[in-house]
Amino acid sequence: MRFPDIKTTLPGPNAAALIGVDRNHVSPSYTRIYPLVAEKAEGLWIHDPDGNTFLDFTAGIAVCATGHCHPHVVNAIKEQANKLLHMSGTDFYYTSQITLAEKLAHLTPGSGSNKVYFGNSGAEAVEAAFKLARWYTKRELNLAFFGAFHGRTMGALSLTASKTIQKKHYNPLIPGITHIPYAYCYRCPYHMSYPECGIECVRWVEDTLFRTTVPPEEVAAIFVEPIQGEGGYIVPPPEFHRELQKIAKKYEILYVADEVQSGMGRTGKMFAMEHFGVVPDIMALAKGIASGMPLGAMVARSDIMVWEAGSHASTFGGNPVSCSAALATIELLEAELMANAKIRGEYLMTELRELQKSMECMGDVRGMGLMVGVELVKDRDTKERASDWRNEIIQKAFQKGLLLLGCGENTIRFSPALTVTVEEIDACLSIFEESLLEVAG
Ligand SMILES: Cc1ncc(COP(=O)(O)O)c(C=O)c1O
Repeated sequence: MRFPDIKTTLPGPNAAALIGVDRNHVSPSYTRIYPLVAEKAEGLWIHDPDGNTFLDFTAGIAVCATGHCHPHVVNAIKEQANKLLHMSGTDFYYTSQITLAEKLAHLTPGSGSNKVYFGNSGAEAVEAAFKLARWYTKRELNLAFFGAFHGRTMGALSLTASKTIQKKHYNPLIPGITHIPYAYCYRCPYHMSYPECGIECVRWVEDTLFRTTVPPEEVAAIFVEPIQGEGGYIVPPPEFHRELQKIAKKYEILYVADEVQSGMGRTGKMFAMEHFGVVPDIMALAKGIASGMPLGAMVARSDIMVWEAGSHASTFGGNPVSCSAALATIELLEAELMANAKIRGEYLMTELRELQKSMECMGDVRGMGLMVGVELVKDRDTKERASDWRNEIIQKAFQKGLLLLGCGENTIRFSPALTVTVEEIDACLSIFEESLLEVAG
């Protein structure tokens, strides 16, 4: 079995020198939690400038769906770069953008009559969804969820409700957004348990919110992550989205699925909403869509995407090279990687649940496909959040060469590339267990 290879103390001298320069010249708003300097990478393996090799279970925040530098994607990028780097889909036409739009229109749930708007990031895809929902409905209010992360531009940030640090000093944001509790069953906001709760978190929207403070006929859209990502990799009950969408339909409110993190095969289906049997009106895509090239897409039904020429656009959105990378990515996802995500995700969850039996601090193990979270607690009964242990475990794992990230207050996320092998999962689990034992054993 291949393990990480750490030859120096971390960071090594070359990495430390680069970080020194970074400190002087790069925005301090970034949240680097450990000093990884990535020099080159292939698959799940990252090499730093000091000759250290790391095992990457973050995929660059759930982006490198096909692994780092997959040859099929790199070739597509090279070929496109030799032909056309940029022409701006806003004002002109080019093949790769048109081909990708046709592909996405058929790939996304619905009858295939979808249309695509291209941007450069998740936030831009959400921003576009926000604007289209207003444009189409001519309504001013929106619902979103506590714990949600939709991005950091002012519109997307207004929908985000993940951490106050992301909003501090930026008010006033866009008015008219009401945040409501997500279906976080491990910590039910209504102190009920599933299934006896009857999905109270959905019923509350109609029975309380729409009767007291938010007139439903003024609501443009409900923005929702199929599985909450940055909020803690939270999987709602199977009927949650279906029941919520029923209410949305009743009041002609658009159902907007933010699949930026959960989409593009990560959960074992192309889009996580497919697990819930729901066809959203609008979808936001990014992250894994182009294996690391910047690309965001907002997909909506043709009868909704009826805004007029000039109402929204972006110079770089749907760049030819990014679109070609996306087409190559989708080929790989469809051929085998989506299926791999399902099988390897099940293996990872089974092994983590096995470990949970002996590790009291592993309060909850949850996920779908390769979107897996472990929520750490000080005590299984009180569920006291073990945020400090979570952070220490991530640091320990890094020192041993395993890259992990947190999400929510006290959850560790496992979001490797969809190419991950059983051996790579075993290597990850062995380092994770060692780190757990050192911190909370
Ligand atoms: C669900 C979701 N939406 C939107 C975003 C924002 O994406 P970006 O950072 O590309 O703007 C993220 C990023 O983590 C996300 O997880």
